[in-house]
Parts: sequence; C-alpha cells; structure tokens
Amino acid sequence: MLEAFLFVGYPYAALVLAVVVGILRFTWRPFSYSSLSSQFLENKQLFWGSGLWHWGILWVLAGHFVAFLVPDWILAWNAKPLRLYLLEASGLIMALLALMGIISLMVRRATSPRVKAVTTVMDWVLLAFLLLQVYTGIDTALRYRWGSSWYASNAVPYLRSLLMLSPKPEFIRPLPWMAKVHLLSGLSVILLLPFSRLVHVLVVPIWYYWRKPQVVIWNRRGLR
Ligand code: HEM
Repeated sequence: MLEAFLFVGYPYAALVLAVVVGILRFTWRPFSYSSLSSQFLENKQLFWGSGLWHWGILWVLAGHFVAFLVPDWILAWNAKPLRLYLLEASGLIMALLALMGIISLMVRRATSPRVKAVTTVMDWVLLAFLLLQVYTGIDTALRYRWGSSWYASNAVPYLRSLLMLSPKPEFIRPLPWMAKVHLLSGLSVILLLPFSRLVHVLVVPIWYYWRKPQVVIWNRRGLR
C-alpha cells in the first residue's frame, strides 16, 4: 500500500502537477519563466557557487539521462572494473562539485543582505530539496556499490515502466532506502519545478549560441 502510494501515486501526481501548473504559469505569466538573476546584487559568491553547482549538476543529470536511454551500454561499459571505477569516480567528482556549489549558494542567500532581501520561502524550499537530492545521491554512491550498474539494471526499468503507464515498483524494491529517498526527493524537485525559480531549466536560451552578437553602445554624453 505504502509502496503503491510512494512509487506509483506520487510520481504520477508530481509529473501531472508539474506539467499542468507549468503550462498555466507559461500561459498566464510567461515573463516569470526565469531564475531572476541576482548577479547585480552580489557577484563574487554567485560566480563560484553557481559555477560549481551548474557544472556539477548538469554532468550528473547528463549521466542519469544517458543511462536512462541506453542502460545496456552502461552495463557493458561497467563489465571491466577499470571502466566502472572511472565512471563512478567521475560521477562522484561532479556530484561533489554540485554539493559545494549548492552549499555556497545557500550560504550566499543567508549572509548577503541584498540577496537575503529578495529571497523567498520557496527559494529555501527548493535549495533544501536540491541539497537533499545531491546529499542522498553521494551517500548512496559511497555506501552502496555500484550505483551506476544497479541504476541501469533496476531504476531505469522502473522509470521506463512509469513512462509506459505500466508501473512496476517491484524493480526498485531491493534498492537501499537511501536510494529510495533519493528517488522521492528527485520527484519532489520535479513537483517544485513550476512553483519555483527552477522553471528556468525549461527555457534554456540555447538560441544565444547562434544569434547575431549584440552591440551595446553607451548613449550618455562623455562616455565613449
Ligand atoms: C543549461 C541549463 C541551465 C542554465 C543555462 C541555468 C542558468 C541559470 C541562471 C542564469 C541562474 C541565475 C543566477 C543568478 O542569480 O544570476 C540560475 C540559477 C539557478 N539554477 Fe540554473 N541553469 C541551468 C540548469 C539548472 C539545473 C539543471 C538546475 C537544478 C536541477 C538549476 C538550478 C538552479 C538554482 C537552484 C538556481 C538559483 C541559485 C540561487 O541563486 O540560489 N539550474 N541558473
């Protein structure tokens, strides 16, 4: 019963709510689809915190995504111990960068008076869940080996079964409880997506890479 609620009901509820509220927010308040930069309020800590966080988390997410697409490749890659260690070590390093980044972003929001003034409760809820997510991932990686293999062999079939609308929670039954908390907090992050500044991940401005460069010209007298 609890298993059905947590690993079948909750994932669908989180996904449906994220999609519906995401569409409503985009329709009603399209300009709120952003992380509202705070760079002009404080830049130094943001440079390190945001840099470490985004570098780390984007590689970690890319790893999860590739394994989701081609789990058999991951299992084949991991068949040789050296390759397995390489994959696990690089994932762990990226996750540690993300951990340092998110802690630094939290310290910044708590200590910089100007950033503190514009920080909402939802910012804190989001940062807390992201911290929990990274922490439980690292803890699982350190205590239960080898996560990249059983992610491919158990978690991916479970996630795919959800997408195919034929949920099979039995795939993740044997996983350690820490990995289950990791999964649940990941679902909570998805749920928070449309309610928080995290919506910016849905509108990454990739066209910046191929648009014409902007020329900014000072228009004040004496400034040339
Ligand atoms: C290519 C993808 C991404 C881009 C281009 C991007 C860009 C940005 C930008 C411009 C900011 C605002 C920084 C500022 O205050 O000036 C930001 C903040 C943030 N991003 Fe991203 N982001 C991306 C992906 C992600 C992902 C995948 C996550 C989490 C799963 C994430 C979580 C956050 C959080 C939590 C903040 C707020 C940090 C704070 O000020 O406390 N971002 N991002």
